Amino acid sequence: MRNDTAQPIIETLLDHLDRHQSWKTVGCTVPASNYTDPERLRLERARLFTTTPVLAALTPDLPQPGSWVTRDRLGLPVVLTRDTEGQVHAFANVCAHRGSQVAPDGRDCTRRLSCPYHAWTYELDGTLVALPDAVSFPDVAVPGPGLRELPSHEADGLIWVVPSLDATDVVWPDVGAIADDFVAFDLVGHRHWRSHRFDLALNWKLVIDTFLEGYHFASLHRNTVGPIFIPNLSQAEAFGPHVRHVIPRRTLATLQGEPAEKWDILPHSVIVYILFPNTVFVMQSDHIETWRLSPDPDDPGRSICDLDFYVPDVEPTESSERHWEKNWKLTIDTVIGEDFFAMAGVQRGLASGAIDELRVGANETAMRLFHTALDAAMG
Ligand code: FES
Repeated sequence: MRNDTAQPIIETLLDHLDRHQSWKTVGCTVPASNYTDPERLRLERARLFTTTPVLAALTPDLPQPGSWVTRDRLGLPVVLTRDTEGQVHAFANVCAHRGSQVAPDGRDCTRRLSCPYHAWTYELDGTLVALPDAVSFPDVAVPGPGLRELPSHEADGLIWVVPSLDATDVVWPDVGAIADDFVAFDLVGHRHWRSHRFDLALNWKLVIDTFLEGYHFASLHRNTVGPIFIPNLSQAEAFGPHVRHVIPRRTLATLQGEPAEKWDILPHSVIVYILFPNTVFVMQSDHIETWRLSPDPDDPGRSICDLDFYVPDVEPTESSERHWEKNWKLTIDTVIGEDFFAMAGVQRGLASGAIDELRVGANETAMRLFHTALDAAMG
């Protein structure tokens, strides 16, 4: 984050730290049925996950011409490619011959994509360029139309896709001033390190909620990451439907004696972005995480969460790999053992009908901003 962006945030946080107060705006309530009602889930899927852009990948997921990566939770199987000109494409990962999955689940780099079933072969711009025994298919043009393309857009290190075969009049997300943050984070200077999929017995929004307040750190995370952070203090701002949430580490206090123009917020905080509607982008002091949420098609109490780790793109060493392994283990253990465990309990509690609404405190501003954006998008 640029120093001129960070300065007022740091000043606010240091001021509240001095006064031993949380940073507050106003609270709100969220209906419990938003997490439990199948009709609400149906509307969310229709309005947030099919006709509007969702974040499908970061630029480092497609680091060079020939790179491809699959996504299987966008409502249809998708393969993203970077063609020989460097242009990003998103295709239905469905062969034009008889519908086989063309690219296997995962990621790699290749000159062309070849379907494993009968070897129809596609350029990375989707063009069908070869098929065995082509004379048996007199109506098929070669080269000719091949994979069905979906709208996609790469900007600021972010790759957006509309997961629809008949999307029209697409308006690409404007992340506004936070685009500068992503430039400063140097996304292209990172490489994908590891992925993990969580199959969760909780509504997709509960995962997002847990990133949107530091109120729970001193209690839920008291034996793990909690002591690293200033308890119950964070600052948040909305940028259109997107949210930035800055959670300060205790080391932020060391900036008090330094000139403001030299302040660097990154070593002293975790900066969380909700890239609306369903991606949590976490800028840690030394790496990037994305947490992409996918609602279950039918059950509001289930979801899939895909975690991706990105680390600086420098030559790996034994020591750096040990560092990332340790970091990864702490993240996974904390999230599974504490956040997701607690959120599964919340889901059961909400499903019980014992409370009609969730209370969001004045100290939980980022959560209010996210739910306000959701309400606006849901109409
Ligand atoms: Fe792909 Fe036949 S289904 S080549």
